[in-house]
Amino acid sequence: MTPVPPAEKVGAVIPAAGGGERLPGPVAKQFRELGGVPVLHHTLSRISRDGLISCIVLALPPAELSSIELPDGLSMPVFLVAGGSERQHSVANGLAALPPMVEWVVVHDGARPLLPRGLIETCLLAAQETGASIAALPMTDTVKRDDGREFVRETVPRNELWLAQTPQVFRRDLLEQALSMASDKALEGTDESALLEALGIRVKLVNGSKFNFKITSPEDLVLAEACLARQEKAGTAFLSPGGRN
Ligand code: CTP
Ligand code: MG
Repeated sequence: MTPVPPAEKVGAVIPAAGGGERLPGPVAKQFRELGGVPVLHHTLSRISRDGLISCIVLALPPAELSSIELPDGLSMPVFLVAGGSERQHSVANGLAALPPMVEWVVVHDGARPLLPRGLIETCLLAAQETGASIAALPMTDTVKRDDGREFVRETVPRNELWLAQTPQVFRRDLLEQALSMASDKALEGTDESALLEALGIRVKLVNGSKFNFKITSPEDLVLAEACLARQEKAGTAFLSPGGRN
């Protein structure tokens, strides 16, 4: 199996420039606290702890650029850029700020603070074959399609369905190509993988973790607090063993 690329060739882009509309409050969700520490600090600490990447580009709301405080003790440079109106614009701005020697990009949501140990390595390894991999979870609930009036139209077979997470790892040139194609064609994806898929790139699925959920709505903060406390007590963050691959 191809080994992980050397750390100097790997950089992270953390989109953290959203307004967090689904979680109303005095500050956007990435700046809310979990266990007394901002969500974004948890994310930055976890993404930098495995020694697999050499730098981070953080995309922030423009108003936060001058006042942001980073966690102490990060072992790598963090470059700050202004995010854009859509997530993919934030990622594109981040990508443009990565140093030239970076050939592999780990995109990870600022709002996913419980990134489990080992998941970046698994995604980096899995991306070596086609240049693209994503963490994801097989669907476990029964899936319904509605008829537009909140009645069930049909039950959708779930055996091929996955819920996409981050990290998403891409060869830099492929991600650049995908973002530039999306901009030319005014295409919008809810993740960057969707843009590479539109280019015809095969994206490898890697088992993520239920703990790696994205803070989206108010109850997620409660869940994340509980998971964090549990993980700190157990001294670990674990990966789900399951999956279809
Ligand atoms: N994000 C970003 N730039 C945007 C929109 C989103 O950098 N223009 C980031 C968010 O800060 C978050 C990640 O992308 O870390 C995932 O997006 P999402 O969960 O949708 O966050 P928000 O867009 O902030 O939330 P909402 O959709 O509820 O408004
Ligand atoms: Mg959003």
